[in-house]
Amino acid sequence: MTEAILLVGGRGTRLRPLTVHTPKPMVPAAGVPFLTHQLARARAAGVEHVVLATSYLAEVFEPYFGDGSGLGLHLEYVTEEEPLGTGGAIRNVASRLHSGPGDPVLVFNGDILTGLDIRALVETHTSSGADVSLHLTKVADPRAFGLVPTDADGRVTAFLEKPQTPEEIVTDQINAGAYVFDRSVIDAIPADRPVSVERETFPGLLAKGAHLQGMVDSTYWLDLGTPQAFVRGSADLVLGHAPSPAVPGPRGERLVLDGAEVAPGARLTGGTAVGAGAVIGEGARVHGSTVLDGAVVGPGAVVRDSLVGTGARIGARTVLEGAVIGDGAVVGEDNELRDGIRVWCGARLEAGSVRFSSDC
Ligand code: GTP
Repeated sequence: MTEAILLVGGRGTRLRPLTVHTPKPMVPAAGVPFLTHQLARARAAGVEHVVLATSYLAEVFEPYFGDGSGLGLHLEYVTEEEPLGTGGAIRNVASRLHSGPGDPVLVFNGDILTGLDIRALVETHTSSGADVSLHLTKVADPRAFGLVPTDADGRVTAFLEKPQTPEEIVTDQINAGAYVFDRSVIDAIPADRPVSVERETFPGLLAKGAHLQGMVDSTYWLDLGTPQAFVRGSADLVLGHAPSPAVPGPRGERLVLDGAEVAPGARLTGGTAVGAGAVIGEGARVHGSTVLDGAVVGPGAVVRDSLVGTGARIGARTVLEGAVIGDGAVVGEDNELRDGIRVWCGARLEAGSVRFSSDC
């Protein structure tokens, strides 16, 4: 069966402060490091051998996943001395692949939550005879993405990075971050220097007349690159809107891991995940949010669409909406934090020191 490369070495700057101590693929979503969902979905599609291309905080992956046998996989790890970018990372793991020159190799970005039919992507690649095949998805506002227009046969005609003007937005199809490469294409990527697959390899191949095939699959798709998207993705996994065989419990309004303490009068809804050792106080309402291991949400607090980092403490009656609280931060009681605010790891906010509204 096809083997896979997972790109997990990015710095995850858009997701800070969640990625200060933890690389993006290891931040828990629905109770387990996000990468677990991707590995479990790959395994379910028949993939057995996966090579992880690591760079930023590379040392944390192997102690957690080991040789992969817990997931029924054979996992290998390759760490870049200097970050090599997406294309350089793919090239850098080539020596670990078992595939022959004409064989297909799956490549996944490590921050995409999707219901993509992985087998269908491999099948599209094989039947079209393409050099590279790409999963494409359609989005309402493509300005933050790389556009990938295709012709009537699904063959890619251009790569347009982050279009801004209406004239540049020629399609609503974007690069969804899952590919099948012909093994020989991987070997042809320059070694030992940074290469972006999106900005260099794909446009270069197209210019040389290579066959790049797009497969539009409009199933669930979310790029978990930003805090709001990450929190949404975790909630969708808990609710069962996003598919994964790795959610540790039944789908529903909430997922409470063993060892968490939830007061009887607390309300957990909207796909909220509560980590091991976390404490949710009496009368607290937590909706669509992620509360990581050992965090404390005080009595009467209201937490919506937010993430509370490992060991962070939220004081009584404090309101969080669309907020990210870094690991170990302490937010005193009666604060109101909204609209994408990021409280850094270990920061301390005194009681009643921040409000967005005038009522108090
Ligand atoms: P931002 O800094 O927030 O843009 O996130 P990012 O660093 O993860 O970058 P981006 O989302 O563009 O990366 C897409 C995928 O490629 C992610 O899964 C990254 O982990 C991975 N990636 C990006 N750069 C590198 C790299 O230099 N080496 C490796 N091994 N993986 C990378």
